[in-house]
Amino acid sequence: MNHLAWIEISKAKIAHNIKTIREINGPNTIISPCVKANAYGHGLIETTKILIESGVEWLSVNSTEEAQRVRSAGINHPILVIGFVAEYELEKIFDLNLRLFISNINYAKKLSDLGKSRNQTANIHLKIDTGMHRHGVLLEHSSNLAKEILKLPNIKIEGLATHFANSDDPLNPAYFNRQLEKFKIAINNLKKIIGHDLIIHCHKSASVLLSRDNIGNLIRPGISVYGYYPGPDVAKLTKEKNMILQPALEFKTIVGQIKNIPENSLVGYGCTYKTTRPTTAATIPVGYYDGYDRKLSNKAYVLVNGKKAPVLGRICMNVTIIDITDCGHVKSGDEVVLIGQQQSEIITVEQLADWANTINYEIVTRLRESLPRFYI
Ligand SMILES: Cc1ncc(COP(=O)(O)O)c(C=O)c1O
Repeated sequence: MNHLAWIEISKAKIAHNIKTIREINGPNTIISPCVKANAYGHGLIETTKILIESGVEWLSVNSTEEAQRVRSAGINHPILVIGFVAEYELEKIFDLNLRLFISNINYAKKLSDLGKSRNQTANIHLKIDTGMHRHGVLLEHSSNLAKEILKLPNIKIEGLATHFANSDDPLNPAYFNRQLEKFKIAINNLKKIIGHDLIIHCHKSASVLLSRDNIGNLIRPGISVYGYYPGPDVAKLTKEKNMILQPALEFKTIVGQIKNIPENSLVGYGCTYKTTRPTTAATIPVGYYDGYDRKLSNKAYVLVNGKKAPVLGRICMNVTIIDITDCGHVKSGDEVVLIGQQQSEIITVEQLADWANTINYEIVTRLRESLPRFYI
């Protein structure tokens, strides 16, 4: 591999994860996987193509910019923009044939006016805020909003959606259940007001995996598509049901310079590590710029020759120093695993998240977008 650092992605594992999600939800549920944030670090376009080969019907992106990239790759699947769309971007909704969330009448009017001037109709999904208190219209204002939107000529209410705040905490289900109840009330009210069939969606990975309520006919799974669980409790309960996701991504680099340094040598910026023995140190050409979090300094290890090589001192922007004293014969150019398996050792995304005091979502989405990605 003639690269300093790269990411390998298994097509079969992504396909397996989609199959698992499909089995849980049945054949009639539309899967609209989240490919936002560079497909959770897996590479927007290539991953989207794998997902389409795996049978997903829709795509969820964060922004019109991501949608533009998907369309430019010749992909014509329905796209739902689940993030904020600014007024200056509304033309793109029509240009690119996108669906978007709406929770505000002034905004809806602008969209309709634009549609009128173009002789086009926008498909929108009403986003109900049932308790996340991020995007969306509060339940108590949702019926009025729907009635106002129905008066607008160039907008069609195609769907209803909400988003859960803590569906990844199945041991404390009260708030989730409250949100679900509110959503059910909204659906009941709005169906009567709108009067035609609607696409209804609320589930992301946690509630998809735990099948916590089969409400709706579309799901928006993100992290699970890529083989990771949204938290340890969801992981435990999902695995107990014998549904095992497969992490799709490995992050690799090569050994750079190797050098023997004496006992009691200080290593790296800030001199935060002191060797406790004569040490064979090596550099790897990966740093926090690549998404190898600086909080991993003095905590993480990588794999060299199937053995653990601890990170020594602070992670630099483009370089990390590792201890290869116990890794046997190592030469410059040898493969190093930062995430993934080497012989019998594995470093998981969750392990890195634990070391860096964050979540698996942040580890994968921060992987530098311009790193070469290989789909195997
Ligand atoms: C609106 C919306 N739906 C679905 C998802 C997917 O969540 P997950 O990755 O936990 O499946 C997200 C993730 O941030 C989201 O913001």
